Amino acid sequence: MAEPLVGLEDVVITNSTICFIDGEKGILQYRGYPANELAEKSNYEEVAYLLIYGHLPNPSEFNAFKTELRNHRALSPDFLKAVTSLPRGGNAMARLRTLVSMLEAYDPQAEDISEAANLRHTIQLTAKLATVAAAMERISKGQPVIVPDPALDHSANFLYMLTGKKPDETSRRAMDIALILQADHELNASTFAGRVTVSTMSDMYSAVVSAIGTLKGPLHGGANKAVMEMLEAIGSIENVEPYMKAQLAAKKKVMGFGHRVYTTLDPRAEILKVMAEKLSKSVGPATWYDMSIKVQSIMLKEKNINANLDFYSASVYHYLAIEKDLFPVIFAVSRVVGWCTHFMEQYKNNRLIRPMTNYVGPKNLSFVPMEKR
Ligand code: COA
Repeated sequence: MAEPLVGLEDVVITNSTICFIDGEKGILQYRGYPANELAEKSNYEEVAYLLIYGHLPNPSEFNAFKTELRNHRALSPDFLKAVTSLPRGGNAMARLRTLVSMLEAYDPQAEDISEAANLRHTIQLTAKLATVAAAMERISKGQPVIVPDPALDHSANFLYMLTGKKPDETSRRAMDIALILQADHELNASTFAGRVTVSTMSDMYSAVVSAIGTLKGPLHGGANKAVMEMLEAIGSIENVEPYMKAQLAAKKKVMGFGHRVYTTLDPRAEILKVMAEKLSKSVGPATWYDMSIKVQSIMLKEKNINANLDFYSASVYHYLAIEKDLFPVIFAVSRVVGWCTHFMEQYKNNRLIRPMTNYVGPKNLSFVPMEKR
């Protein structure tokens, strides 16, 4: 038996045409297009089309897709009633995971895993997750649910449904860039979890539930919330240095730093850093951004470990007046399109994903009756 590949580092399990990462050069591409160029020149809806269909849409393809996405945003009154039955508060990712299970119960075609049905599920889930997230957040706070506005794009509408206010262009753009940058990331832990679910020929909803449960952890999508908790615990520029010294002396991990694939700066972090700086000036206060810069420079100096996507997304969301419990939910609202695209790819060329353990426990023991133990 070979030595176990703990953490499956560097293990390649499939060919894929969705996402390319060169961790040494800091390159990230969706369907061959650099993510930073998409963040600069495109928008989330177009990137969703690109991921799903594998090419950039022409104007009529894009208009039809936008209409389809926007038509799928609404939630039925019955579903919304079910959302109100959830306990208020508690972990937002746990609520989102439960609500995606509930969405499945309201879709009579949920278990259809034909190619056409999976494409439909992908578009529906991409459209609906934002509405579910916003509705569950408002209901949890005792606020009325905001009906989606088809005149607004995905990011503007998401912010509108969360806050009840139409966002200004800076906020809309910040959310759009964050959603673009989180839309896919090759075989990260949550995508892998979902592909494993699909490999048993289970359905798309079940795979998204697996993925949300996996994204929730602080080593993955829960890191952005943990970053905010850290910034709040630091509290002031003066406290950055003593806090970080104590953290590193105790050999604690600093959230929002390090990556399994990138050995250089996560290209997504650089873009969100610029966005956070812009918002620190237009929205303020600058403290959150200034603290982040100092934390990053200490991590580089002391550990030579750079920031990842989650580090600056925390201050971006905070400047957008979003509560920290919702940060990983926003990640899921964006990543759902990447997940589903990977699931469709898995269905098309499926083989059950079933690795092994190297058993190191005792063997061939004889059963001892209870009275003799
Ligand atoms: N803070 C401090 N040290 C860190 C670190 C961090 N955020 N990330 C990695 N390291 C150190 C580890 O302590 C370890 O050092 P050692 O070899 O001296 O023990 C080394 O770097 C390798 O870390 P490891 O956890 O084994 O790498 P990994 O590839 O298994 O994990 C992450 C990758 C992302 C899970 C890890 O970097 C991490 O926990 N980061 C914080 C959580 C986070 O931001 N997650 C979001 C990822 S996008």
